[in-house]
Amino acid sequence: MDHVQVELGDRSYPIYIGGDILGRVGELLKKNGITGRVMVFTNPTVGSMYLEDVLEGFHGEGYGVSSRVVPDGEEYKTLEYANTLYDSLMDNRIDRSSTIVALGGGVLGDLAGFVAATFKRGIPFVQVPTTLLAQVDASVGGKVAVDHPRGKNMIGSFYQPRCVIISLSVLDTLPEREMRAGLAEVIKYGVIKDASLFEYIETHLDSLLNLEANGLHTVVKRSCEIKASIVTKDERDEGQRALLNFGHTIGHAIETATNYSRYRHGEAVALGMICATDIGVRLNVTSVKTSERLSNLIERAHLPTRIRNVSADAVIEFLRHDKKVRDGKVRFVLPREIGQVMITDTVPDDVIRKTLKERSL
Ligand code: NAD
Ligand code: GLY
Repeated sequence: MDHVQVELGDRSYPIYIGGDILGRVGELLKKNGITGRVMVFTNPTVGSMYLEDVLEGFHGEGYGVSSRVVPDGEEYKTLEYANTLYDSLMDNRIDRSSTIVALGGGVLGDLAGFVAATFKRGIPFVQVPTTLLAQVDASVGGKVAVDHPRGKNMIGSFYQPRCVIISLSVLDTLPEREMRAGLAEVIKYGVIKDASLFEYIETHLDSLLNLEANGLHTVVKRSCEIKASIVTKDERDEGQRALLNFGHTIGHAIETATNYSRYRHGEAVALGMICATDIGVRLNVTSVKTSERLSNLIERAHLPTRIRNVSADAVIEFLRHDKKVRDGKVRFVLPREIGQVMITDTVPDDVIRKTLKERSL
């Protein structure tokens, strides 16, 4: 088992990465000084495959453990649903010395983390992410949230987990589309910070999609290291954490314009990365060679490179309402080259519009 540390003073925590470590969740909680009762939140998809392994691992570790299965889907990541989870916590005598374990993808992790952050003004929680996207992004860094009818992740907090436990073997059952969507975030880390990670994905793409263990371990660990180093420097997203938004400016607008139903988050991020790179080329920030290298990899990963049936006007309208807008200016992350990006809020509207039109089918 490997480990990456997120350094945040007295809120520092380890990310454990191993082949099949679901059965060690109880042991790892103990190692991190966690005592008291435990509530495991999961969903029916993940729970039917993995809850038993996790619960068995608690035997003999001295914990009183309860579990609650939350329906699968973003539509349950709401305040209304969180309210029913508070009921479960009270029914199961969960108090401030107890811990919530989130076993699932990013939806479950965001919801369970939000409930942990707010129940009795905050109780410990542990992330056990089961999608590639949650392993390399959502479970690390402490952003927890629920959605509001007027916006995704509108109600939330920064609330760090006590530890993150990544068992790579769970990816065996992840639908291929989810795997590819998660890979978009790994590609993002390569572009923003690490040309050698990008090159690694280029040369090992097939084996990664075939879930070859060493390759997965390499890219998940490196992605977590990059995210940890950024979060360490800017926990509350006031500066360089914005680098993580490469591909997310237009990506989020496309997700919103399509009502979150057409694209998986990683697919929209892939489109957003392509558009940001097109914008970079138009503004002479990005070379055509860099742009082609990125679009080749995204195409090879069978991620979308063309926006289907969404008008440029609709995307631009949603861009203006994004959380990333500051003082009315839309912020973009543009690649200078693979491994290095810049942040700008001076992209002219006509450049955004032309880019979206050219990328639309
Ligand atoms: P998800 O949680 O909806 O999971 C996708 C699907 O895969 C679900 O049906 C889930 O039940 C299933 N699944 C999960 N693990 C599985 C496994 N091992 N085998 C088989 N099926 C499995 O989607 P996601 O992409 O993991 O997360 C998206 C969410 O993450 C969004 O709500 C987004 O806002 C959030 N997010 C949060 C952050 C953050 O920093 N907090 C970052 C990125 C995304
Ligand atoms: N997923 C973006 C962030 O954690 O800041």
